[in-house]
Amino acid sequence: MPETVDVTVQRYNPETDDKPHYETYQVPYREDWVVLDAILYIKDNLDATLSYRWSCRMGICGSCGMNVDGYPKLTCSTHLRDYRAGLTIEPLSNFPVIRDLVVDIDDFMAKLKSVKPWIIRELEQPLGAGEYRQSNNQIDQFRQFSQCINCMLCYAACPVYGMENEFLGPAAIALARRYNLDSRDEGSEERVGVLAASEGIWECSFVGECSAACPKGVDPAKAIQQTKFDTVNGFVMGAMLAPFGNRR
Ligand code: SF4
Ligand code: FES
Repeated sequence: MPETVDVTVQRYNPETDDKPHYETYQVPYREDWVVLDAILYIKDNLDATLSYRWSCRMGICGSCGMNVDGYPKLTCSTHLRDYRAGLTIEPLSNFPVIRDLVVDIDDFMAKLKSVKPWIIRELEQPLGAGEYRQSNNQIDQFRQFSQCINCMLCYAACPVYGMENEFLGPAAIALARRYNLDSRDEGSEERVGVLAASEGIWECSFVGECSAACPKGVDPAKAIQQTKFDTVNGFVMGAMLAPFGNRR
């Protein structure tokens, strides 16, 4: 008889259920399995109706985020052996549930787009002038903020977003910071309206759970506090940028 582990999963089918409920499955225990392997096993062998998202299985696509024992995790990067006594898997907190472990990402995607996450230039140099070159030091200014995989774990961990869904939120602000710090970018003024709005940086009470939950080492809490500092000190305004060159 193989060893097993009890995996309890929150289930919800909007066509038949008034509210979510839990079902427990006995899954074979394998030392080298991650939580996503257990979910795949359930789908393939025990209940084909289970719905969830995943793609890359290697911590890159950001689609397999779920709450594991109440904490947001990438299930493809979370080992089953850390939950030998059993575990409970739920959809990420703070997002509407579409079905089972699948949440609605529309609000998150709209927030990412709202900060204009691309290089903005007042005037493009002619192609013949070559690339916009950057030094390693200039790249280091924004490198960690560019590691985000849009997994939404930071939103699931954020108590402010949990209470106030209008909050722009950690990843979107970290993304704006990534471009504001890019030496090729001249778009700070275009982003400041969204960042400094009442739903922006000032909603953050610096709990820091976003940075603790991030599986990629991004520090959104730092991005938010830095953006507050720059906004208060006027560095995001074009008139103030000139004496500093492109300090971002
Ligand atoms: S900042 Fe981290 S936790 Fe938040 S979406 Fe990006 S990778 Fe995920
Ligand atoms: S499946 Fe892509 S990050 Fe987990």
